[in-house]
Order: sequence, then structure tokens, then C-alpha cells
Amino acid sequence: MNDVWVDVAGPADFSDVRALLEMWKPGQRVTPRRPADLATGRSLFLLARLSNGAPVGLVEGHHDWTNWELLADWGHLTDADRGSYLLSLFVDPSVRSDQVGTALVDAFVAEAVGAGSPLVVVIPDAEPFSYERRLSFFRRCDFIPLAVTVPQPTWIWGRPLG
Ligand SMILES: CC(C)(COP(=O)(O)OP(=O)(O)OC[C@H]1O[C@@H](n2cnc3c(N)ncnc32)[C@H](O)[C@@H]1OP(=O)(O)O)[C@@H](O)C(=O)NCCC(=O)NCCS
Repeated sequence: MNDVWVDVAGPADFSDVRALLEMWKPGQRVTPRRPADLATGRSLFLLARLSNGAPVGLVEGHHDWTNWELLADWGHLTDADRGSYLLSLFVDPSVRSDQVGTALVDAFVAEAVGAGSPLVVVIPDAEPFSYERRLSFFRRCDFIPLAVTVPQPTWIWGRPLG
């Protein structure tokens, strides 16, 4: 396994974050657009670097997820009416399957615990391919299927904390 460390991204990391996003979604309009957008209030990016400093992955999320109305059935979630939302996760294909993604998720979970969240949620991308691999990745990171979103029948997955 590569030595990797994960840290909250600050303004000095802006160009590395943009370079990874460009690698993931070439030519698309994505945030952050300015260094100041990297960490606003309770939202953040985490950046993974190898020991030589090379940026190899990122996670974006926030700690103010309350959109239970998007769920078709949340009856069993009454104790957790809020949580941290893992919005996006990307690892440079040249270092995949070497635990960088797991390290990023673990670091985001640690941030969520620090923010007092009872739960981390994610909606694994269904498109364009590799849905089953994505699910097995989140399963291994201790996420479980929580509920179906509406209007699309997309599963939201969560990792209860504490
Ligand atoms: C999902 C992803 C972050 C995993 O990163 P990683 O550093 O390879 O993760 P780990 O090494 O900790 O775990 C590896 C597992 O991730 C999953 N995985 C690997 N490549 C993948 C890919 N291209 N797409 C989806 N899942 C993948 C597999 O379950 C893999 O297990 P395996 O090696 O036994 O097959 C990375 O593959 C990625 O950036 N994919 C594209 C973007 C994406 O799908 N993001 C999630 C959106 S919700």
C-alpha cells in the first residue's frame, strides 16, 4: 500500500483539487471555482496525498444534511434527522485499489464525528458504470442501505456513527 495522508484542503490546495476534478470530470463546470469556496462553514474538501506530496484523491462533503423529505421511507431513522453528506469521492485511477478511497472515507467519517453528526450518508452514483463495485466499496467502508430516494428509485446508503 502507498503511504497516504489525508487533510482538510485549504486555499493553498486549490489548484490540486481543481486538477483532480478535471481528471475526473474533464471540461465540466464543477465547484470549487475559487480558493475561498474550498471550506465554507460546515462544508469541506479533503485531499489525499502520497508521501512525495502528489495529490491522488479527494472527497467533498458537508455536515448539514437534513433532506429526509427526499426519502420514500425514513420511518426507521427517527433518531437521526440530520447527518453529514459525502457528496463526491474520487481517486486517481493510477493508484486505485490501494486503500486511498477507504482512507478518504475514514477521514470524512472522523470529520463527521468531530462535527457531532450521528450519521454519514452517500448516494452512490448509479451511472455510467461500476455501480456494483461502488456498492461493494461502500459496504466495505461499513455503509448500509438506508432508504430509497424519490422520485428516482435510487438507494441512499449510510454509516451510523457512535
Ligand atoms: C470508488 C473509488 C473512490 C475507490 O477508490 P480506491 O482508492 O480504489 O478505493 P480502495 O482501494 O479503498 O477500495 C477499492 C475498491 O473500490 C471499488 N472500486 C475500484 N475501482 C472502482 C471503479 N472504477 N469504480 C467504482 N468502484 C471501484 C472496488 O470495490 C474496489 O475493490 P477491489 O479492489 O477489491 O475491486 C474510486 O474507484 C473512484 O474514484 N471511482 C470513480 C469515482 C466514483 O465512482 N466515486 C464514487 C461516487 S459515489
